[in-house]
Amino acid sequence: MRIGNKEISGFAALAPMAGVADRAMREICVRFGAAFTVGELTSAKGITLNDKKSASLLTCSERERPFASQIFGSVPEIMADAARAALRFSPDFIDINMGCPAPKVAGNGGGSALMKDPVLAADIVKAVVNAVNVPITVKMRTGYDNDSTNAPELAKRCEAAGAAAVTVHGRTRSQMYAPGIDYKTIEKVKNSVKIPVIGNGDIKDGKSARFMYEATGCDFIMVGRAAQGNPFIFDEINAYMCGKSYTPPTLEKRFTVLAEQIKLMEEYKDSHIAILESRKHTAWYMHGLEGAAQLRRMCGEINCFGDIERICQKALELNKDM
Ligand SMILES: Cc1cc2nc3c(=O)[nH]c(=O)nc-3n(C[C@H](O)[C@H](O)[C@H](O)COP(=O)(O)O)c2cc1C
Repeated sequence: MRIGNKEISGFAALAPMAGVADRAMREICVRFGAAFTVGELTSAKGITLNDKKSASLLTCSERERPFASQIFGSVPEIMADAARAALRFSPDFIDINMGCPAPKVAGNGGGSALMKDPVLAADIVKAVVNAVNVPITVKMRTGYDNDSTNAPELAKRCEAAGAAAVTVHGRTRSQMYAPGIDYKTIEKVKNSVKIPVIGNGDIKDGKSARFMYEATGCDFIMVGRAAQGNPFIFDEINAYMCGKSYTPPTLEKRFTVLAEQIKLMEEYKDSHIAILESRKHTAWYMHGLEGAAQLRRMCGEINCFGDIERICQKALELNKDM
């Protein structure tokens, strides 16, 4: 697949996840085969005001490319200004969020609220496309609610406004993160536009990755929650899609990668915040293990890197046969 003039290799990208898919996680996922990464959603207004939080969200390293910065907002001029300012951080693409259901985003007319106003949404895409010379992509849901699954129409408008690709999370805003995925509407989006369509939602292994490709005809896929504590999923999907066998990492390897991810977090953010955030990442790495409940409890009490090493040691003792 190509986004603009950039060739994307592999089979799956890492989805944006605010508060989760930070620089550290993105770098690790690329190392294990993620084809490209998308940053945490960043307020266009915040970017134009030059605030520190926005700058830290837009910062990327060479090890997570190709990288898209994701911006949100509802005013075309501000979105254009924000995109111009975001170029300072050299993203490969700029992604416009039209899927976020959070009140502080949709309540101000941005994110998923744009699905209710396709004309404004297209104006935003046009303004951003005209402002910068990197490809502009859009991430949307299937619709705002079940009575308006208008992603095919919105995608068409975005394409006409100059978008280089669209990602569709196969749920409406009112469905939030459940129930199952509406593959039909993603397929309709694919049949409505010529630009690449990226299917997203509930991909958790090689089989569900292939299902997304086959059920929708999409050009590419994006994986979110299944990469939490499992960056190896990209290797797994890449192997599956090529008909190759895949051997999951040993527990020792899994914990080595966890330690590397936490070390990167400590390097990239305030060390106190990194340790607090390491609690959830460490718990995700323990998923599916014998003694998971006990291990999760221990994760909730992490106060230093040594605590993580002790949890890994405990997990190895409880899972000798793995
Ligand atoms: C914790 C969390 C944070 C998210 N943050 C964003 C975000 O910043 N921007 C965005 O477009 N989508 C965001 N999403 C949605 C995901 O990118 C993705 O569309 C959704 O989780 C469905 O994919 P999955 O089933 O593979 O997780 C977020 C999802 C989660 C769980």
